[in-house]
Amino acid sequence: MLSKRSLVGIRWNFHTLAVLFFMLIGIQAFAADPAVDSSDEAVAAGKAIFNANCKQCHKLDQKYTGPALRGATDRQPAENVKKFIKNSQVVIGSGDSYYNDLYKEYNNVNMPQHEFLSDDDLNNLLAYIEFGDKEDPAAAAATAGAEGGEVAAGGGIPSGYLTVILVVLVVVLLLILIVLGLIISVLTKYLNKQELDEDDQEFVSQKFNAGKVLKSDGFIIIVTALVVALVAKTAIDGLYSVGVQQGYAPTQPIAYSHKLHAGTLEIECQYCHTGVEIGRSANIPSPNICMNCHTHVQNVQGKEGVSPEIQKIYDAVDNNTPIEWVRVHNLPDLAYFNHSQHVKVGGIECQTCHGPIQEMEVVGQHSALTMGWCIDCHRQTEIATEGNAYYDKLVQIHVYSKDALKVKDIGGLECAKCHY
Ligand code: HEC
Ligand code: HEC
Ligand code: HEC
Ligand code: HEC
Ligand code: HEC
Ligand code: HEC
Repeated sequence: MLSKRSLVGIRWNFHTLAVLFFMLIGIQAFAADPAVDSSDEAVAAGKAIFNANCKQCHKLDQKYTGPALRGATDRQPAENVKKFIKNSQVVIGSGDSYYNDLYKEYNNVNMPQHEFLSDDDLNNLLAYIEFGDKEDPAAAAATAGAEGGEVAAGGGIPSGYLTVILVVLVVVLLLILIVLGLIISVLTKYLNKQELDEDDQEFVSQKFNAGKVLKSDGFIIIVTALVVALVAKTAIDGLYSVGVQQGYAPTQPIAYSHKLHAGTLEIECQYCHTGVEIGRSANIPSPNICMNCHTHVQNVQGKEGVSPEIQKIYDAVDNNTPIEWVRVHNLPDLAYFNHSQHVKVGGIECQTCHGPIQEMEVVGQHSALTMGWCIDCHRQTEIATEGNAYYDKLVQIHVYSKDALKVKDIGGLECAKCHY
């Protein structure tokens, strides 16, 4: 039989859920920046500008040469972001601490200036950055490795998943709310038709009481669950990043610049890193290789005397001591990595793993170098079999499969290939 008790229970659930629902809406509204236009036209116009000027260095949801851009206007006020896009050097020069830290984090890479962009252009860009091309998070996580960018496996739980979970939660709550609301209205009508004493009559026509809801068990349980989930996520993210040295860029004993030598002077990587096509290690050049040029080049053009930095090379040669370069990349001993396998046989560019070295004043670790990073690429990269007799047999066998031959198909996921 329908009783007062069941109506009480349903009402409390309804009220608790209603509060939770509006909390979630509140969080969502808080996350979106009202200063940014979200109309389709603005997003489309922004995308065109982005593809023409920014795409080579930025992605929306992944770190690339520059940071992942989505959320830029949450991290800084939109006005500052616009100034930075127009001329980043002016903002960095003004001493802004957020952008100075970012600049350091990205190895002092200068973002080109975009003074030619109008304020409308900039608004459209921001619209695209915030609302454009939302990727399916599962696919985004899967492709991250193939891009040679940073992999979710190395950086914690991708935030895309959390958004999806939040949205699903909101929809489910909304449905429950509607159903409960219907039940309550039917029940109230039904009870109103019954003969009720004064107490019951008062209860049935009782109004919403926020204070009681805040004290109700259901509400407390839900809030506790949310807090626990938040703490757990933070802890898991922390654990995932233990030992990951991404971004590590130590100061070197000589202010040697890849930007100058590999960028401006266009010296081949192999000229100095002689091992990349031959064996496991790429090799760091000995002072003798520097001396091929620096016997003559004693300073930068236009400066007199011997540069103190180049003097350090002379000292090393005279005293027959090595230069104590600080190692940037460092896999643990348990993992085996071979350069020639990847560079010579696999035909992979240095930049795929090391990032735009030719733009770095100081070399930093670009990729996560976790096991997930290696594996993701092996899952997705097709093998360059053409013109490689070594693979002829394999290709013949594989010809019956619809998919291209990937590294995983030649054993690239076997533990023993990377561990011994
Ligand atoms: C040559 C590479 C390059 C190009 C092209 C480039 N950027 Fe950047 N961008 C960077 C780097 C590197 C940083 C990190 C800060 C620094 O080093 O100055 C950055 C930082 C940013 C930031 C700050 C992000 C944050 O997390 O707060 C924004 C916003 C930005 N870029 C937008 C753009 C837009 C919009 C364009 C195109 C109009 C663009 N960038 C073109 C390399 C580039
Ligand atoms: C003129 C010589 C020279 C050239 C050319 C050169 N490098 Fe280097 N490279 C060095 C020296 C010296 C170091 C060690 C100091 C440092 O880390 O900056 C180094 C360090 C590195 C490191 C970090 C090594 C570590 O400690 O983990 C990487 C990665 C690297 N180079 C990649 C490249 C790539 C890619 C190119 C071509 C685009 C290149 N280098 C061109 C001399 C050179
Ligand atoms: C193929 C020739 C070549 C090789 C090899 C080479 N350099 Fe240079 N390096 C140059 C030239 C040319 C300049 C001057 C560029 C200019 O005038 O702006 C220079 C400039 C420099 C400077 C800048 C000096 C200053 O005061 O700013 C340093 C430091 C330097 N080199 C270190 C090294 C080291 C260390 C090595 C070996 C790992 C090396 N170079 C190998 C050609 C070379
Ligand atoms: C498939 C990814 C990948 C590619 C491609 C790649 N590297 Fe590396 N590189 C690594 C890893 C991983 C390490 C760390 C190795 C270790 O610690 O044992 C490394 C280390 C280095 C080092 C430090 C010294 C050493 O040998 O350990 C240098 C220098 C270097 N790479 C230069 C290059 C150059 C130059 C190229 C292009 C010709 C290149 N790498 C291509 C992944 C790559
Ligand atoms: C950017 C993509 C990429 C990344 C990142 C990468 N690899 Fe590879 N790896 C390849 C390709 C492509 C081949 C196949 C080369 C060939 O044709 O034999 C390969 C082959 C190998 C092989 C030989 C597999 C076999 O069955 O012969 C080993 C071992 C290996 N990689 C280890 C590693 C390790 C360890 C890491 C991480 C530190 C790593 N790789 C990161 C692309 C990658
Ligand atoms: C493509 C290369 C590759 C393959 C295949 C591979 N690993 Fe790894 N593994 C690595 C690298 C690189 C590291 C070091 C990662 C780091 O320092 O974060 C590692 C680390 C580990 C660690 C140490 C974890 C830690 O946090 O220190 C264990 C355990 C491990 N691997 C087990 C395995 C097992 C089991 C398999 C087979 C199912 C396997 N690996 C296959 C490359 C590989």
